[in-house]
Amino acid sequence: MPDVRTPSPTRPSAPAGTSADTAPSPAELLEFARRTAADTALVDSLPLDPEGRTWLRLDGPGGSEAWLIGWPPGTGTDWHDHGGSHGAFVTAAGELQELSLAARLPTEGWKTLELADDVDRERQLPAGQGRAFGAHHVHEVINTSTERHAVSVHAYYPPLPLMRRYSRTGQVLRLEQIELPGEWE
Ligand SMILES: [Fe+2]
Repeated sequence: MPDVRTPSPTRPSAPAGTSADTAPSPAELLEFARRTAADTALVDSLPLDPEGRTWLRLDGPGGSEAWLIGWPPGTGTDWHDHGGSHGAFVTAAGELQELSLAARLPTEGWKTLELADDVDRERQLPAGQGRAFGAHHVHEVINTSTERHAVSVHAYYPPLPLMRRYSRTGQVLRLEQIELPGEWE
C-alpha cells in the first residue's frame, strides 16, 4: 500500500455515528489472527528461544496492536487483563491452554477479590484454534507442553493502554501491578 499522508479534513462527509465503524471488532481481530497464524513463512520467521518468550510486532488491522509470540515449553503469562482493550488470539504452532474467568470484575477500587466457585473456564487451543475476547476479559495463557514450543498471534484494539497483573491463591485474586506500554515488551 502506498504511504499516503494527505491530511484529511475532520470527517465532514462521514455520516454521524460511523466513526466506530473503523474500529476492528473482536471478530475481525480473530479473523486477522487466524489468517496470520496460517502464514507459515511468517510464523517460521519468529526466532525461538528455549529460555524465554519471543515477540515480533505485526501490523494489526485498523490501528490495532498485534504480536507474534513464541512460548517455550512450560512458559505462560500470569493472570492479567488488557486495560479495557478487546482482542483475539490464535495458536499458530503447538498448543496453548487458556484459563479465564467467566465473570466481569470491577477494574478499579480493590486489591483482593474472592471469586465465586463457578467462574473458572479452561480451553485447549491447538494450532488453528483461538478466541476473541471482550474489553473486560481476564485470563492466563500457558504452553503446558514439556517439549514443544508454541507460537501464537495476538491482536488488541485499541492498542493496549495498560495491563493489570494479578496473582491468584485459590479463589482469591490479588492486583499485583499495573503495567504501562513498554514495560511488558
Ligand atoms: Fe492476554
